[in-house]
Amino acid sequence: MASRRIRPIKGFVPTPDRLVDHMVSLLFEGREVDPEERLLDPGCGDGAFVKGLLRWSKAARSRLPAITGIELNGQLALHATSDLQGNPRVNVISGDFLRTKPPRKFHYIIGNPPYVSILLLDEHEKAEYRALYRTATGRFDLYMLFFERALEVLEPGGRLVFVTPEKFTYVNSAAALRALLSTYHVRKLEFLPDDTFGELVTYPFVTVVEKVRSGQATRIVTREGTERTVQLPRGGASWAPLLNGSRHELNYVRTGHTLSTICDRVSCGIATGADGVYVFERDALPTNFHPYARPTVAGRDLDASRPSVQTHSVMLVPYEADGRLMPLEDLGPFGEYLTKPHIQARLLRRTCVSRKPWYAFHETPFMSRIIRPKILCKDIARRPSFWLDRSGMTLPRHSTYYIVPWDESIVEPLCEYLNGKQAQEWLAENCQRAANGFVRTQSNSLKCLPIPSEFVTRARSPLISMANVRSQDLGPPVLEMVA
Ligand SMILES: C[S@@+](CC[C@H](N)C(=O)[O-])C[C@H]1O[C@@H](n2cnc3c(N)ncnc32)[C@H](O)[C@@H]1O
Repeated sequence: MASRRIRPIKGFVPTPDRLVDHMVSLLFEGREVDPEERLLDPGCGDGAFVKGLLRWSKAARSRLPAITGIELNGQLALHATSDLQGNPRVNVISGDFLRTKPPRKFHYIIGNPPYVSILLLDEHEKAEYRALYRTATGRFDLYMLFFERALEVLEPGGRLVFVTPEKFTYVNSAAALRALLSTYHVRKLEFLPDDTFGELVTYPFVTVVEKVRSGQATRIVTREGTERTVQLPRGGASWAPLLNGSRHELNYVRTGHTLSTICDRVSCGIATGADGVYVFERDALPTNFHPYARPTVAGRDLDASRPSVQTHSVMLVPYEADGRLMPLEDLGPFGEYLTKPHIQARLLRRTCVSRKPWYAFHETPFMSRIIRPKILCKDIARRPSFWLDRSGMTLPRHSTYYIVPWDESIVEPLCEYLNGKQAQEWLAENCQRAANGFVRTQSNSLKCLPIPSEFVTRARSPLISMANVRSQDLGPPVLEMVA
């Protein structure tokens, strides 16, 4: 069948045939298919799974359950219908799966639900979903709600196979979804190769759930293709330690202290949304911009083969110490630069301007809590490495995580501990894996890192006043990898 071009549609990410075929085989694995049963493909797009089901039926010489596809986008629903040329076993409905519950339940559900972050929803949609779905908590994503609705309309004993980003296995905002899934038998969790969808989906992941009581083991297939069996926790706890094969969980429970207990900040660096506008090479910065500039570092500057790093970039910051955005007229030459038509046009293209002043950063930086003695590490690395920013003057960019202990006197030994064997082993097992065995050092994992009790002090160091951050602080501070 010739494939047609479909113009870009929000949340539409077509599933490659190879993955469709694999998921269909997981759907029917070990089951006798009964043509009296019903199968649902919610968010069916132009029918990738329906076509895959028909391929499977032909190859396996097996009849299929009656298939229903539901698709929000009328154009895609039309494509699916015309491609299937009136097959009497298939019914594609143009409708909204999240707002209208199908009248009957299904024995099988398969699909690739939409990945639409809460950030792309308007206030009315957010409120509506929050009222309808218990999984609509924190920074939820529509695919989480698809899971909830699908489990609701799955017949007892029925099976569901979804491909989604793996993120729901560990983010806080998916705790309610994990709690819900853990009441059923999660049969299999499969990490897919990163390039499965080209660049469209990061860290794709297949979940197979059976609507029977939980208690049975879950099979994990890693990105490297190895398999093992685990018992998922009940409730909303992160699955990351189990999926990554932690042996150090008990240590964590025993010490009771984690990085988050002793730190004011364990966070991702500053997201301006337009580093091209706000970040300069220090030597290229006109001197009249110096009062607004601070040294800055990106993840790529933190090279593990160099134990000491000098930053050569600076960030222009239109914020007060307490995170208040300065009025444009108080920004002098920096304000004039921002209002140049091509710079302003570039800033206006950022998604954040719908909820913020046009020259605000993508996320508000609380400067007085960042300009402090701290520890920095890059977001993705072969092995997590930590650098000490002794003076506290460096601003971490978005590809960098920063750790600010409440008590600055422990910052150096803490950095040493993080680069040491015990912490490294824990991180290797508890952080998410990226492609090629790289490790993603996200704040969620970092915050849970067990900490020896010697780092637990009651001291609170004073904040550095912005008044003390003078223009000579622009000189390249040195970051050290204390080990
Ligand atoms: C990731 S795409 C997958 C498309 C297709 N199933 C495939 O695998 O190629 C998700 C689909 O869900 C559709 N969709 C988004 N929100 C929906 C909703 N509330 N109800 C039904 N379909 C929806 C989108 O239009 C899109 O076609």
